[in-house]
Amino acid sequence: MSEEKEYVVREAREDDLGAVMWINKRTLPENYPSFYFRLHLHNFPKAFLVAEMNGKVVGYIMCRVEYDNLYTNPERVGRKGHIVSLAVLPEARRRGIATELMRRAMEAMKNHYGAEEYYLEVRVSNEPAIRLYKKLGFKAVKVLPRYYGDGEDAYLMARPA
Ligand code: ACO
Ligand code: ZN
Repeated sequence: MSEEKEYVVREAREDDLGAVMWINKRTLPENYPSFYFRLHLHNFPKAFLVAEMNGKVVGYIMCRVEYDNLYTNPERVGRKGHIVSLAVLPEARRRGIATELMRRAMEAMKNHYGAEEYYLEVRVSNEPAIRLYKKLGFKAVKVLPRYYGDGEDAYLMARPA
């Protein structure tokens, strides 16, 4: 049996954004206009990553870094690495791709943009994603009532960098 990794994770390019938007539409109800993806790629290129399998983009992570009170230490103001959107195509799941996208994006937010913590919002019903984030050391900090357009609540999850 081959132990070789079947995917590569790399920084996204402008010409990946079509595939990224298609994956986003297919996998999440939270969709954004193309300028929103382009803006994040432009502002935080080191923390916008894609995963490729057999030359095809099968997953992405898009982030930004904000300056505000830290969720992990509310008395302090600091740089917060916000994981804005993460998705992997159904046929490419359970191979560790999202874990690798998260690890690499967190590294990039810390090393390139000075992030002192990471945070994200996730639907309270999204067990696969919640489990992934818990494995990576994230904890639910609070519930954001009716955060989503359809009325579902979000957990705000965070961890120190
Ligand atoms: N059921 C239970 N646990 C799961 C599942 C699942 N279906 N999928 C992942 N996990 C947990 C497991 O603990 C898994 O480890 P294991 O495979 O050793 O058991 C761990 O997460 C890591 O899994 P990965 O293989 O790294 O995750 P994957 O590449 O499959 O992607 C993801 C996970 C991103 C949640 C994927 O299912 C997906 O794209 N879902 C739809 C989009 C989505 O929900 N995105 C997150 C929204 S929140 C946000 O964007 C901030
Ligand atoms: Zn968010």
